[in-house]
Formats: sequence, structure tokens, C-alpha cells
Amino acid sequence: MDKFVIRGGRRLAGEVTISGAKNAAVAILPAVILSDEPCYIENVPSISDVKISLIILKEMGAEVTRTGKDAYRIDPTKIDRCCVPYETARKMRASYYFLGALLGKFNKARVSMPGGCPLGDRPIDQHLKAFSALGADYTLSQGMIDLRADKLTGNQIFFDVVTVGATMNAMLAAVKAEGLTVIENAAKEPHIVDLANFLNSMGANIMGAGTDVIKIRGVKSLHGTNYSVIPDQIEAGTFMIAAAATEGDVVIKNVIPKHLESITKKLEKIGVNIESYDDSIRVWVDGPLVKANVKTSPHPGFPTDMQPQIATLLTLAEGTSIITEGIWDQRFRYVDELRRMGADITVNGTVALIEGTGRLMGAPVKACDLRAGAALIIAGLAASGITEIEDIFHIERGYDGMEIKLREIGADIKKVSVPDKISENEPDTKAVSRNDSADDAEAV
Ligand code: EPZ
Repeated sequence: MDKFVIRGGRRLAGEVTISGAKNAAVAILPAVILSDEPCYIENVPSISDVKISLIILKEMGAEVTRTGKDAYRIDPTKIDRCCVPYETARKMRASYYFLGALLGKFNKARVSMPGGCPLGDRPIDQHLKAFSALGADYTLSQGMIDLRADKLTGNQIFFDVVTVGATMNAMLAAVKAEGLTVIENAAKEPHIVDLANFLNSMGANIMGAGTDVIKIRGVKSLHGTNYSVIPDQIEAGTFMIAAAATEGDVVIKNVIPKHLESITKKLEKIGVNIESYDDSIRVWVDGPLVKANVKTSPHPGFPTDMQPQIATLLTLAEGTSIITEGIWDQRFRYVDELRRMGADITVNGTVALIEGTGRLMGAPVKACDLRAGAALIIAGLAASGITEIEDIFHIERGYDGMEIKLREIGADIKKVSVPDKISENEPDTKAVSRNDSADDAEAV
């Protein structure tokens, strides 16, 4: 197993380039299934969730060819099954996008219940509500979700809660459904818009993505396309906070400043200087950091996926800050690890009270999920002394070469291999051979 070893106290300075957005890529890759021709996708981040998505596509028969560092040619026309093997799919949350894509293309799908970060209850009732509204029947058995439809027909879908995943899945299932589908109370994240733009580049007819009402007119077929994934809003925000936490001065390139507005506004309130340009943003600190109150909410609110990172920054600010987690009911599991580094944080349900102590001390800690791991890296960079972070496979699910990028702007961080004490949760991204999942196979 690997761990990160960080010697803290060094200011970050220089330029860093952001990779493609994880939460867009993991929806766009399954969406290729809907095309009747090969697709070319660029700016795909090299992260384990993407690797698993590509393995799943290959296991189903798609032809996947790497055409560049972050680019792939994917030919879905040879897909000969509509089932995603349990062992592969359960390793990540986004495997459920194969449900919407396979249903939209073949009127059937068989995918395991998704895995993903342990953030508390993560139901899929709204996904199933959307599929049912379009005419699909579903069964849940042995951890697998089976979908079947004689025909998919456009319908009204009103989500009881704003949900990124179900909004994505409803779009995937509806693009070829006959007639008009109207999704109300839709999620508005940048990755929702990116998936809609990708589908429209294949000939879909989707209007209103990025607002809370999305209209989709079903089309008969979708053609191939060339598409570049948007930059990762959360990776950019993570580097903004890393720069601030080390009192650094960093230019973050390949960003869409509009996607970062809620993060920028909050950081400026904390005393961070920020200058936005066309596709980059400069972050620097030249004075004390001050307390702030943060409430996470769906876009355009402050992103929940930035909550652990900004909590870490606020441990360094003067005064008492309050963080209210508005999306997940268990997203403070990282606090125990920060306490080992000297943080003074009290958690009560979905509210955390942070007493800014202005300093952190290096310690051995463990990443419990993707963004918690990113927060521990930030804490290690700001702390005095050495911090060792275990279970970094969580971090590598969603950050492309994070330690390399940090080293390039002055961090003292290295990845060290440790004799295997394999964590039961570590996803192996080696391919399951196609005949291994023969019993699951279901000809399309
Ligand atoms: C996506 O998860 C992201 N993951 C998460 O990012 C992110 O935290 C989340 O959206 C919110 O922005 C991916 O995109 C792969 P939701 P998702 O459906 O789709 C409830 C990261 O760090 N809900 O928007 O699973 C749910 O319980 C990860 O990159 C239902 O009640 O989140 C939650 O309270 C962590 N029923 C709220 O909606 C459903 O059927 C939002 O969940 C679905 C969701």
C-alpha cells in the first residue's frame, strides 16, 4: 500500500494546471454507449474512477484506445452485453451512470448497487423514480439493479431532492426516449452542463441544463463526436485552499472562473486575495486569515466536495468558524484525523464548530474518503513537522497526480510504498477478464 509523506511549512508558489473534471468524466464515459459511432474524448483525468469506467466499457465489449496523455477513442458499436460485473461496479459511485446509458441504448441494464465515498445514507430512489417515469421496470436482488423497458417514453420527472446523480441518469435514459421529458428540481452543477453539452454534441436535443428545469426531446440516434471534458472545479478549489493554507502565491491554470465563484467569494471573506483571468486564477495571502461561516448546498452554493478542505483552512484562521453540511449526513469523519494534528473542532450532527488555533502539527493520519484525503494533504502542507497519510487510494480516485503537481509548486511531498497491509476497501483497477463475468453476461 502507498502513503504520502509531507514535510510541512513550505509556501506554495508557481503555476499548476488543473486536469479534467472527475464528476464530468465518469458520466461522459458511460454516455459514449449511447452513440452509434466511435467518440473521441480529451482532457480525461488519469484517476482510478476513470480507469474503472474504462475497464467496464472494455468488459462490455467496447473498443478503448488511448490516443494521447488524457485522450481516448471509444468505439461502443461492439458492445455485446448490458451488464456491469458486480466486482468492478461496486468500487465507485459513478458506476450507476451505466444504468442510464445502457437503458437509454438497449432498453435494459444490469448494474450492481454503487459504492463510493462513505458519506452517510446514499439512496438511489430518485434514479429509480426517473427510470420508472420513462417506462422502465426495475428489480433489486443480490446487490444488483435490473432495469427493463419495452419502450422508453418521455415524461415529467420531479425530483424530491436536488440530486446530481439522478439528474445525470435521467438525461442519459431520456435522450432517445420518444417525445418530451421535463426534469424539474434538477441539479445545476458544472458537470451536469458538461454531460448535456456532450450529449448534444452527439445529436441529442437537451435544453436548460444548468437551470432547475431540463427539457429533453428524444432523438432516434446519436452519432460520434470529439469532446473535451471541462476542468475540475473541485481540484481547482482544492489547490486554491492549499495555496491559502501555506500563505503561498499560486496561479492555477485551465480553470473556468465562473465555476469557482462560490469558493472565491468565501475565500475572499477569509482574507485570501484572488485575481481571476480568462482561464486561470491567482491565489495569494498577505495578511491574517479570519473566521467564516460556511453552509454547503447544491450549485451555485458552496460545494459539499470542498467542505473538508475549507474546514482545514479555517483551523488556521483567527476566531470561531461554523460549518453546516447541507448535503450529506456523515461528512465530518475526517475531523478525528485533524484533531490528531492539533485542530480544535466540535461536531454536532451536520454542524462543526472550528476554533482557529492558527497552527497544526504533523502526525500519522488516514484518509477516510476522497475529499477528506485532500484536506489531510492541505493540513500536512500547513503543519509543522512530518505528516504521513495512509489509504491514499481514496485520494487517487479523484486527483490526477496530486503529489507531482504539489511538488512542482514547492511542496515537500512524496509517495512512499509501504509493505502490504492491504486495506479492505482499496479498489484494484486490474481488468476482470470478460469470461470471469460470463455468468453475469446478458447479450444486448
Ligand atoms: C455526486 O454524488 C458526486 N459524485 C459527489 O461527489 C457529490 O458530493 C454529490 O454529487 C453532491 O454534489 C459524483 O458525481 C460521482 P447526489 P451523488 O445524488 O450523485 C440524496 C466527490 O467527492 N439522494 O447529488 O451520489 C443524497 O442522499 C463525490 O467527488 C437521494 O435522496 O450525490 C444526498 O443527500 C463525493 N436519493 C443528496 O440527494 C437519490 O436517489 C445529493 O446526492 C439520490 C440522492
